[in-house]
Amino acid sequence: MQVNIARKFAVATDICAFELVRADGAALPSFSAGAHIDVMLRDGLVRQYSLCNTPSESHCYRIAVLRDAHSRGGSIAMHALKEGGLLHISEPKNHFPLHTQARHSLLLAGGIGVTPILSMAAALDHAGASFEMHYCSRSAARMAFRDRLTESRFAERVHLYFDDAQDGGRLQLDALLAQAQPDTHLYVCGPSGFIAAAMDAAKAAGWNDANVHREFFSGAPVQESGGAFQVKLSSTGRVIDVAPDLTVVAALAQAGVEIPTSCEQGVCGTCLTRVLSGEPDHRDVYLMDEEKAANNQFLPCCSRSKSPMLVLDL
Ligand code: FES
Repeated sequence: MQVNIARKFAVATDICAFELVRADGAALPSFSAGAHIDVMLRDGLVRQYSLCNTPSESHCYRIAVLRDAHSRGGSIAMHALKEGGLLHISEPKNHFPLHTQARHSLLLAGGIGVTPILSMAAALDHAGASFEMHYCSRSAARMAFRDRLTESRFAERVHLYFDDAQDGGRLQLDALLAQAQPDTHLYVCGPSGFIAAAMDAAKAAGWNDANVHREFFSGAPVQESGGAFQVKLSSTGRVIDVAPDLTVVAALAQAGVEIPTSCEQGVCGTCLTRVLSGEPDHRDVYLMDEEKAANNQFLPCCSRSKSPMLVLDL
């Protein structure tokens, strides 16, 4: 779908927000809190950005992008875009939905990971649901949408923390998550270190895995590619070699078997493929630990194999 960049504006140091509208002014496809869109950039570059506006809004999609000099080019390409320009995007997809039956929701955001959390807070407020939001940033200047939060209807539910605070104003994850409640759901979005710390604290406090949800905004750290192995297509019995320097997706593509991909870094889940036998070497940040342990699915854009062969449901 093609959209216009109706507005581009700074919301914090190195963070720009974009408001995307249909060129003909028509309503955009609806979305739910936690959803993201794929943005097609130059040279086949595709990036996922969470929608941070209120899900009841249909006149625009709002995203926010941190300019990261160490990124693989997506954030720099986004920041180079100009107001009035055109963008190709996908319809919204949601791998990070709210569980609306929860008695209480605990929203945790680190840095630019605030984007889906903002949308969730707005949706929960709109529904009159019980929630609280905790948002950590390196500094006040780097905190996107701070004014929007402090001036929102739910400002008293929002707790802000700064890494450079002098007065002990940093989030104490262990204390916050110490009281696991069976009917409370936890949502975490931010850098991998922030998510790992929250997951560890939740696990130590006995949170039920089914109540803990997280979304990364960047991929898993790049790992050594690993050794060669083979994949077998269960439908035909065909065996395909995966060389050490190729991903499974790339090896399959060379053999004429296309797997849909989007992020190509184990974040979005688009390439999720069922594994019928063999032991995957999971390298994504999409699957939960227990899903990885089941070894019946994997993300072939980044994951590999611990066994000599994987039989795939293809
Ligand atoms: Fe996104 Fe594989 S393409 S997880």
